[in-house]
Amino acid sequence: MDDKGRRDFLRGGWKLGGALLFGAAAYTGYEALRPLTAGSSGAKIAAGTVSSFAKDTSTYVPAGRMYVVNANDYLFALSQKCPHLGCHVPYCESSGRFECPCHGSIYDLAGEYITGPAGRGMDRYEVKLEGDNVVVDTGVLHTGPPRGAKVFLTPPKGPSCIGKA
Ligand code: FES
Repeated sequence: MDDKGRRDFLRGGWKLGGALLFGAAAYTGYEALRPLTAGSSGAKIAAGTVSSFAKDTSTYVPAGRMYVVNANDYLFALSQKCPHLGCHVPYCESSGRFECPCHGSIYDLAGEYITGPAGRGMDRYEVKLEGDNVVVDTGVLHTGPPRGAKVFLTPPKGPSCIGKA
């Protein structure tokens, strides 16, 4: 291969590598931020025993695409879907709150609205106790509490994951 051929080959390699990198970044961004479709399968999901949800913690339950939280000894099953425009809302361990990376809505541990463009708190699935087991009915979704409902609001545990107060 002469010098010109080598240069053309390297130029093509950079373009291919850049295209692959762009594709990987675009897919990762899409997976992280894509709006979710409504609800889950409608199945009843055994999320765990009551004692497995310690006070003031959040546990992600992938089978239901939801969080089971124990907020001051009240159990809630929160849809991971942001009530603003449907992004997946991650739980921020450092603040102890749900913080949406899409437009900055923040919710307390019980999914109550704190700040941002969302019009209400996070939606909640029906939770029942069957013996010692926490069973979530993903076929019954209750609209999240309205803005201003701050029954479970406590100060943030620490810094926000999305850089908000
Ligand atoms: S989708 Fe969560 S704040 Fe907009």
